[in-house]
Amino acid sequence: MNTELNVRDLMTTGPVIPVIVIDDPATAVPLAEALVAGGIRVLEVTLRTAAALDAIRAMSAVDGAIVGVGTALDGDDLARAQDAGARFAVSPGYTDALGKRASELRMPLLPGIATSADIMRARDGGYTAVKFFPAVQAGGIAMLKALGGPFVDTVFCPTGGVSASSAPDFLALPNVLCVGGSWLCPKQAVADGDWKAITALASEASTLGSTG
Ligand code: 3PG
Repeated sequence: MNTELNVRDLMTTGPVIPVIVIDDPATAVPLAEALVAGGIRVLEVTLRTAAALDAIRAMSAVDGAIVGVGTALDGDDLARAQDAGARFAVSPGYTDALGKRASELRMPLLPGIATSADIMRARDGGYTAVKFFPAVQAGGIAMLKALGGPFVDTVFCPTGGVSASSAPDFLALPNVLCVGGSWLCPKQAVADGDWKAITALASEASTLGSTG
């Protein structure tokens, strides 16, 4: 399997990858259904809560959903998420050990980078499709333009501080294939079970200016 190709496929499935935090496991399936109904299929479920693995398992059964794990910090996170059904992984940073384990597990990995040195280390590990994190805090659009100079073969998913209003400017950059963000899943809407609101946010996100 060509891991790199799969990651790029994931990044071009839609313009936005929602960063999802599941507190209540009962919300997992209706949330996934609401996002898919709005045209958002690639779902990143962060390993930040006790419910995360069960949520990945449950959401993976939702028709049309492509569920992966986020906040994967090490190889064990990759393995337990894969066991739960995660089809890809996103990490906030990159380590050689993480990159190696993902390739051993044949788990498509979108690793986080914030600097040129990070990109070079990820590149050494075979990863040229990366998450720029935290995007706004680490230099935003100006940084992505600057990184596009030396790193002509690298494509980015900026995540962190990106919003519905700023996403189009990121998506307009030639080295940005998609963006990530939590704005599609407001905590209150999820807690209230306001799935219509989530579907509306997803519909809006799925029509944002597509790949660069
Ligand atoms: C995260 O890891 O929480 C993501 O970067 C989401 O950031 P956001 O809440 O600013 O979209």
